[in-house]
Amino acid sequence: MNILDIIEKKRDKKELTKEEIEFFINEYVENKIPDYQMSALIMAIYINGMTNEETTNLTLAMAHSGEILDLSNLNSIIVDKHSTGGVGDKVSLILLPLVASVGVPVAKMSGRGLGFTGGTVDKLESIPGYKTSIDMEDFIQNVKNIGISMISQTLNLAPADKKIYALRDSISCVESIPLIASSIMSKKIASGAQKIVLDVTVGSGAFMKNMESGEKLSRKMIDIGNLANRQTVCILTNMEEPLGLAIGNSLEVIEAIKFLKGEMLEDVKQVVLELGSHMMKLAGLGENLENNKIVLLQNINNGKAYQKFEQLVNKQGGDISYLENTDKFEKASIIEPVYSNKDGYITKIDAKEIGKVACRLGAGRIRKEDEIDKSVGIVLNKKVGDIVKKGDIISFIHANDYKKMIIAKEEIENIFEISKYKTDSIPTILKVIESYGKGKKIIEKNI
Ligand code: URA
Repeated sequence: MNILDIIEKKRDKKELTKEEIEFFINEYVENKIPDYQMSALIMAIYINGMTNEETTNLTLAMAHSGEILDLSNLNSIIVDKHSTGGVGDKVSLILLPLVASVGVPVAKMSGRGLGFTGGTVDKLESIPGYKTSIDMEDFIQNVKNIGISMISQTLNLAPADKKIYALRDSISCVESIPLIASSIMSKKIASGAQKIVLDVTVGSGAFMKNMESGEKLSRKMIDIGNLANRQTVCILTNMEEPLGLAIGNSLEVIEAIKFLKGEMLEDVKQVVLELGSHMMKLAGLGENLENNKIVLLQNINNGKAYQKFEQLVNKQGGDISYLENTDKFEKASIIEPVYSNKDGYITKIDAKEIGKVACRLGAGRIRKEDEIDKSVGIVLNKKVGDIVKKGDIISFIHANDYKKMIIAKEEIENIFEISKYKTDSIPTILKVIESYGKGKKIIEKNI
């Protein structure tokens, strides 16, 4: 077998066998295939796509390219959660302590942000002292003792995905359904998940720009889940405008802490409750989704979800005085309001564009090796559908560089679209797609 024949086959729209897929994954991880040949193959996959069978074989080959975490000694059903990425997405920080507080064990490995989308690990590291790299034994022990641990992906988890993702990013091949589906599902399988809830974001700030591609990606991941024996539920959520108000690392952590203390923003609340109710169902803690949402809300209102987050932060070395008093988080040196330049209704706040502005302020990485500035970002003061008057504050810029702040201010003024006609805001939860196992029908429910 050789890589040239495999490239040629995919270039000519032919289906690759399991052996061919395993060959190029293993050889690439061992540096026996150079980046230029892998780039040609990835581009051929991007253009010609993959069948379900090929995508599943790619997923399994990538999952088995490193260690597979064995969580069986936890003696519980491990339900994992993953988002396909977004702007202002602080859902994991809220949802995971919340579901842990009702008894869903959480053993979560997350990634860092790249480009305009943020990453949970960077956000957790905004809490002084919080360690995202701990021993595997401590990770498992924390799940046993307090029901939750949240860390960064270990180096040897799906190493093929790590290499291929970086390559895709450098050759403009990220937005491909088989490549995204296999990238996400390989990491979930390698990290020991038995059941999986996926937040499939749809809109300008997501990889999937419209419902059609969001549905296609969801069906693909459910098919892989079925073939790999991992029950998978996809919740399609709106990422046309940023989620919640804060975009930026410590700013999002502060919003998450406030949520857990009961200050719930409506769009964040809807995503958290929808995903949480499905996680409870998959963990065997309640068949009725509406009842599950009531149980989750109770644990916000009685403080148990917040206490669980405090326990998690404490256990991983974080300073919980920052949770008790969020004013302690280091602030950016400049906090500048942005004003509306006319009267009307907000009709659009393009999530991707806002994410890019936050990234340029220093909240995100343009290249993998970039340092991020935890304190900078944007806090929206208005959302789509809100009425504004000329001179009203539409957002605040948190910056540590005067020139960058001035540029951001001009950009944000243009990103907020204001019209004299009110437009209906887009619902937050767009659709749920699930299946009850191999050979079972996929069920699609519009919300
Ligand atoms: N998230 C991932 O983990 N992989 C992708 O390819 C895209 C989003």
